[in-house]
Amino acid sequence: MLPFILLFLSTIVSGSSAASLYWDGRVPQTMTASDLDSSTGPFLSVVKGSESASHYTTLLGTTSTPTPLWTTVLSEQVISLTIDNSSIFVPGGSTPQNGFRRTDLIAQGDGSNSALDAIMEVGVSKFHFSVKQNEQLPLNYSHEYQIVFIEPADGTHVFELQLGTPFTNPTASAPAADATSLKVRDHALNLLFETPFTADQWHNFAVQVDWDNLTLQVFYSADAAELAAVTSVVSNPTASAGSAGQGDFHAAIVKLPLVDPSEPSSEQNDVVHYGIQEGTTEGLFYSGLFVEQITA
Ligand SMILES: *[C@@H]1O[C@H](CO)[C@@H](O)[C@H](O)[C@H]1NC(C)=O
Ligand SMILES: *[C@@H]1O[C@H](CO)[C@@H](O)[C@H](O)[C@H]1NC(C)=O
Ligand SMILES: *[C@@H]1O[C@H](CO)[C@@H](O)[C@H](O)[C@H]1NC(C)=O
Repeated sequence: MLPFILLFLSTIVSGSSAASLYWDGRVPQTMTASDLDSSTGPFLSVVKGSESASHYTTLLGTTSTPTPLWTTVLSEQVISLTIDNSSIFVPGGSTPQNGFRRTDLIAQGDGSNSALDAIMEVGVSKFHFSVKQNEQLPLNYSHEYQIVFIEPADGTHVFELQLGTPFTNPTASAPAADATSLKVRDHALNLLFETPFTADQWHNFAVQVDWDNLTLQVFYSADAAELAAVTSVVSNPTASAGSAGQGDFHAAIVKLPLVDPSEPSSEQNDVVHYGIQEGTTEGLFYSGLFVEQITA
């Protein structure tokens, strides 16, 4: 019985204690497509292509089973994110991001992402996310995908969950050997942990961020297994302390381009605006998104 009791306690501690949660993106059954379209609720949904948010993001109701890690403490809907050839984000009044195809959900509280960042990105906090393959809409592992990250204003990532073949110029002649592995990278893009992105399974992650000491620790499990530390506490020295280091928490599909050798060399490293995209429709499933406060 002992393992059962331990699992139960740990689920309660890390899953449901309202006092310790900064943000909860585990979508209740009551949330609808129109909530997504109006960015009502836990997500700011404006970073996407020209269609409505609910064209790219679907809440799967009771038709799909979320990560089993938290189902004893709450009922949530699986979130399906997709990209297609229309997934070109145009930042307000700025140049279209023709190099990317992307759909992002950004954590917000009381209708503000930046206000939430200032609250949840102090001291030590732990970012939870679970991902699963969409076998009907597979990714193209010749490309790099950034699928969960915290992005400060300078466009860097405090940490990121990445798939595929990291962008290089020129493009590698074959996909990377670990292209189909889920990879957690630090701010300097050092690999901290990787695991094969096997199908038919939820892959559960948590990344604990110490915002003062600039460290990271990665936790992982598959399906219902309890999260376990898969790294020690490691330094994240290139990250910034204070408000410059804080940024939006994204669950996303950001598909980077391949280099187009016919474009001028000055454009070939500009992944945001240039390069090759096939325009295919691709998807991933997410659940178990939340952020907890860790107190010493
Ligand atoms: C993946 O991308 C490569 C490079 O653009 C392309 O040759 C290939 O056809 C793509 N595969 C699919 C299934 O779209
Ligand atoms: C942060 O670093 C300080 C100084 O090295 C140390 O005393 C403290 O225990 C560290 N805090 C955490 C949460 O590791
Ligand atoms: C995808 O969209 C781009 C930009 O709008 C366009 O140039 C390209 O022809 C489209 N590709 C496909 C396969 O529809």
